[in-house]
Amino acid sequence: MPSKRSAKYRRAKWRHFLFTIGPNRLTGGRLLDRHHAGGVVTRHIEIECPLWPRELDGVRIAHVSDFHIGDLLPLDKAVRVIEQLEDERPDMICNTGDVIDLDCIDVRPMFEAMRKLSPPLGNYLVLGNHDELDDPDLLRRMARASGITVLDNEMVQVEHEGRRLAVGGIEWARTPDACSRQIDRAMGDGTIDILLSHNPKAFDHASERGVPLVLSGHTHGGQVARKDRPDANLAIAHRRSAGLYEHGDSRLFVTVGVGAWFPVRMNCPAEIAILTVRSGSRN
Ligand SMILES: [Fe+2]
Repeated sequence: MPSKRSAKYRRAKWRHFLFTIGPNRLTGGRLLDRHHAGGVVTRHIEIECPLWPRELDGVRIAHVSDFHIGDLLPLDKAVRVIEQLEDERPDMICNTGDVIDLDCIDVRPMFEAMRKLSPPLGNYLVLGNHDELDDPDLLRRMARASGITVLDNEMVQVEHEGRRLAVGGIEWARTPDACSRQIDRAMGDGTIDILLSHNPKAFDHASERGVPLVLSGHTHGGQVARKDRPDANLAIAHRRSAGLYEHGDSRLFVTVGVGAWFPVRMNCPAEIAILTVRSGSRN
């Protein structure tokens, strides 16, 4: 497990100094003040999903990701973002990771805010690469203590009012091959309806395995995008970096996330996504 002495943690700390702390000092603190003042938009998206089970037609999923709680997103703002979901009355909340930016602070108030919403189909979390920098096990314990299902290469079945849903999730994996191995571990010989993966690179293998819907984050939509072209952005390592994608009958939604890893967003506002999933004609 990585620790504060790990090379990954030290590199992340340097990046944080170079792109956040240093520039913020140069601007007399104005950079972070301006960043903290930025709002988080609620986006409503309808997803036509051919493989989605008919009895789950119209399920509303609150998809949140990449809070990066720390210098760039104070905990109280993260709690307010979750509270913003209250009026939406989602059926389930899916958090696709990077809750923590660097140091694993006490984020239980955010998890408790999720618990308070008590979505009937549950609260789910998969961890991202930043969550692994300091103390991923502590983060898992805090989430589970608030009744959140943390999915580490596994799946769970949930049933509510006659509706059954198989929810899978994988731990952080950097490459498509590593994602594929985790997906196979999570699914075994079974099927799942929805897969949570921090890395959108899981999508190709998930679609090969017939997963109807994959939710991801990680890219932040590049944080800087061309006007009216959210997919033309700085996340050049990712073919699928913002919004909705199709491959065969499977669908992927990549949220640009709530937080940031450097204090600038241009043409790429922080978001929470409310997804309404419609079963397609094949059901
Ligand atoms: Fe992230």
